Amino acid sequence: MTQLKLHLLGSPVLRERCEEVHAIDDGIRKLVDEMYQTMHTAKGVGLAANQVGLTHRIAVVQVADEEPITLINPAIVEREGKVRDEEGCLSIPEIYADVERSQRVVVETTTLEGARERHDVSDYLARAVQHEIDHLDGILFLDRLSPLKRKMLLKKWKKLRKGETGYIKDVMPARSSR
Ligand code: CO
Repeated sequence: MTQLKLHLLGSPVLRERCEEVHAIDDGIRKLVDEMYQTMHTAKGVGLAANQVGLTHRIAVVQVADEEPITLINPAIVEREGKVRDEEGCLSIPEIYADVERSQRVVVETTTLEGARERHDVSDYLARAVQHEIDHLDGILFLDRLSPLKRKMLLKKWKKLRKGETGYIKDVMPARSSR
């Protein structure tokens, strides 16, 4: 089983806009498989390609008992409602904050068979989908907070990271996070 290495806040790849996938080949299928494995080991509910150092427009999402959703070149085609709830991120461990998201979205994505399909998702699953699509645009949940809140959490993050160097790490089983 291949575990991909996780990129943490500070790694420049997290700020890159990921590139459209033009062909679904064995390499892409293998990557998606490894992303699911890595996400499950980390006990996350979502993982984007740039979180494992790659700039493909691919993310995986799996919330509790719901069907997993593989996002390839995803596009949100419909949004409804606004809701605030707590979010975290596998790339910013131990940092959590309330983020406003659409309550329901319809996301269009390319399947591993190369077709386009739509998923109508709500609540926590919709939140995870929006969080992952943000990643593919180089956006982190911290960017969606007030400047004051962000500053406070970055201070906490620096304190937590004290003495640690490097922003690429092996995935360790952890508590639930995105
Ligand atoms: Co994240």
